[in-house]
Amino acid sequence: MSPSAALARTVQESTADPTAAELLAARPHLAMHAMDGLVLEAVPLRRIADALGTPTWVYGAGTMRARYRALAHALTQAGLDAELHYAMKANDHLAVIRLFAAEGAGADVVSEGELRRARTAGIAPGHIVFSGVGKSERDLRLALAEDIGQINVESAEELDMLSALAAGMGRTARIALRVNPDVDAATHAKIATGRAGDKFGIPWADAAALYARAARLPGIAPVGLATHIGSQILSLAPFRAAYARIAALVTDLRAAGQTVATVDCGGGLGIPYRNEPAPGPDGLAGALRAAFHNLDVRLKLEPGRWLVAPAGVLLATVVLTKQTQGTRFVVLDAAMNDLVRPAMYDAWHGVVPLAAADAAGPVAPADIVGPVCETGDTFARNRLLPMLQRNARVAILDAGAYGSVMSSTYNARPLAAEVMVDGDRWSVIRDRQTHEALWQGERVPDFLP
Ligand code: LLP
Repeated sequence: MSPSAALARTVQESTADPTAAELLAARPHLAMHAMDGLVLEAVPLRRIADALGTPTWVYGAGTMRARYRALAHALTQAGLDAELHYAMKANDHLAVIRLFAAEGAGADVVSEGELRRARTAGIAPGHIVFSGVGKSERDLRLALAEDIGQINVESAEELDMLSALAAGMGRTARIALRVNPDVDAATHAKIATGRAGDKFGIPWADAAALYARAARLPGIAPVGLATHIGSQILSLAPFRAAYARIAALVTDLRAAGQTVATVDCGGGLGIPYRNEPAPGPDGLAGALRAAFHNLDVRLKLEPGRWLVAPAGVLLATVVLTKQTQGTRFVVLDAAMNDLVRPAMYDAWHGVVPLAAADAAGPVAPADIVGPVCETGDTFARNRLLPMLQRNARVAILDAGAYGSVMSSTYNARPLAAEVMVDGDRWSVIRDRQTHEALWQGERVPDFLP
């Protein structure tokens, strides 16, 4: 390819991206003020970066609340009887869980740690659903001891294990069978969970027989079905296909004399990271209504990303810029150890300067990278970005879900600080990890000199 053709391709690819102004216009909780720069709800993000340094996560409580209410409203408007169980894997900070608990949410948990966190944040046991393909005996024992609302069983072996434990403890487990509907969610392959070859759920064709067996087992009370076909789903067709299969199964089970009171429809609703068309709560509510409104079932949903992703940003500072072989690199102090999504799923996240003057400058393509010693430590390639200088600050957008929860300390980089904004107030909700904390708990054995 000639250099000019390469440049033309570069520009064409880059121009498909929304501009910073377009990204902000689609995110009402963020705005660029002439003096204060980028503001989240009513707090200038520069103020937080000045006080705490970077990288720092910032979450808008008002934004999360508004999103929760919008989703709940869409379900009510569609005439659906539905409970929301926040999928806390998306962001399991106690303050975030507490916020949703105060809105009336339950929690979807997938580990002992998440169950303990949910309880610590104030979620009542009856409002907890336990999902996951590999719950250990220890996980199940805790779930039984706490008498949580529902356990979503994903295999015959898990069912037997749970029955034996429950009977031994003199408890009854309310279970839903998680069904794998064999539907391709048309999302990134690593986060699609409802195809026949995926590890999740009970094959659609085996579900009715297993449900009947569950009803006969000691310590087990089957209450319904569950499904979850994947995450960051931007089209309604896979939801419709999966829900239609589950609805048909409800009808078949009832015809066979089983009781099916509830259907847990999982999470998965995607967000427009790149301002792409997205179905939103109304679209999802429509798909749910089409499948279930005649069935007289209590619906449960397990939303994670949709509630929290847009409400969060990751603040970072430009360490330096460098030009090599025709590529301008903007090196940030945040890295893949903080936000792994671009490295792991080739995810696209908007990047917007914090200072109004920086944001207003002319743009040119740049690769936005972190300092970690891997080429995969790249937040964005070929992104149209103003000519940011050293010490300029940026916000990486839509980082409220699967951000801090997936951080590691790779390259001995401490976990970043976390802040919650609520209107014009803000508060540090997690201190930046100290270097000493990185090796706390490590021991050098006596046999070493
Ligand atoms: N329910 C179950 C059983 C799940 O496995 C998940 C997500 C959810 C609910 C919530 O799905 P959401 O509404 O957030 O799409 N780390 C990946 C996403 C992994 C999702 C795992 N399961 C990412 O950064 O894209």
